[in-house]
Amino acid sequence: MKVTVVGAGAVGASCAEYIAIKNFASEVVILDIKEGYAEGKAMDLMQTASLNGFDTKVVGSTSDYSKTAGSDICVITSGIPRKPGMTREELIGINAGIVKSVSGSLIEHSPNTIIIVVSNPMDTMTYLVHKTTDLPKNRIIGMGGALDSARFKYRLAEALEAPISDVDGMVIGGHSDKGMVPLTAHATRNSVKVSEFLSEERLNQVKEDTKVGGATLTKLLGTSAWYAPGAAVSGLVQAIACDQKKMYPCSALLAGEYGLNDLCIGVPVILGRNGIENIVEIELSAAEKAHMQESAEGVKKTNGLLEL
Ligand code: 2OP
Repeated sequence: MKVTVVGAGAVGASCAEYIAIKNFASEVVILDIKEGYAEGKAMDLMQTASLNGFDTKVVGSTSDYSKTAGSDICVITSGIPRKPGMTREELIGINAGIVKSVSGSLIEHSPNTIIIVVSNPMDTMTYLVHKTTDLPKNRIIGMGGALDSARFKYRLAEALEAPISDVDGMVIGGHSDKGMVPLTAHATRNSVKVSEFLSEERLNQVKEDTKVGGATLTKLLGTSAWYAPGAAVSGLVQAIACDQKKMYPCSALLAGEYGLNDLCIGVPVILGRNGIENIVEIELSAAEKAHMQESAEGVKKTNGLLEL
C-alpha cells in the first residue's frame, strides 16, 4: 500500500506521521514545492521509526511526481492555510489553481488512485477535482466531517465531564463555520442520548463551539490546526487501505441523496478499498434538514466562484 501526501506543511507532515506510526502502509511519499523540505521531513520521520516502532518507508520529494507513481491513495493538503479572522472560503482563489494542477499531476502518475482532498475551502476543492478529472466519484473524497466530528466529541466529553471513549457523535454538512451540522439529537454517551444529561442550552453551546472549532484554533495558533486534521486523514486512509468498511462523514458528490444534487458536502459514507462504497442516508429532523439545505446553499455559492 503506497500513500502520497502532497504538502509538507503542518497538516501534511502530521498526516504522514500518523499514517507511518499506524504501520499499515508500505510507503508514504511526501511531496512539496519547497526545495528539500519534504526530503527533510521524510528523513526526520524515518529517524523516529525505531523509536516509534514502525516499518513504513517515508520518502520526500521536491515536486518530482515520478516518486509518487503507483500510489493507491493520494492526499492533497497543499495550498495556503487560514490566518486568524479568515474564513476557509477566502482561500479559494489561490488554492483552486494549486489543487487543480496537483490532482492532474497525481493522476498522471497514479491513474488508479483514490484522492482525499484536505485543502480549503474543502467541499469546493473536492468538487473541483470531480469537475476537472476523470476519476469515478467513489475515488474522490473530501476530509472535513471526520475532523469536525472529532471536535464535536471533544466538546461533548467536556460538557458531559466524561471520557471521550464514552461519547459518540457526528457532524455532517459543509466544512465551514456556518455550514457544519452537528447531529446533537443522534449523539450518545454509551448509547444513551446526550440530551438525557445536558440541557438544550448546553447542547446548543456544544454545537456552536464545534462549528467554530477550526477558527478557535486558528486564533490561538496564528495558523490552522494540524494534529486533529492529520489524525482524521490517517483514519480515512486506514479505513480505505485496510478495507475496514468504516462509516465516516466525508464530502461526497451527491446525486439526489439528502435531496441534494451536483455538489460535494459532508454526509455519512462507508469507506473501504473502493473509496466511498456507499452513501448512508439517515433520518434527519426538520431542523437538521433545514440546516443541511442552508449549508448546501453556502457550498454552492462558493462553488460558483470556481472558474470551471
Ligand atoms: C481545520 O478545520 C484545516 O480545515 C481544517 O482545522
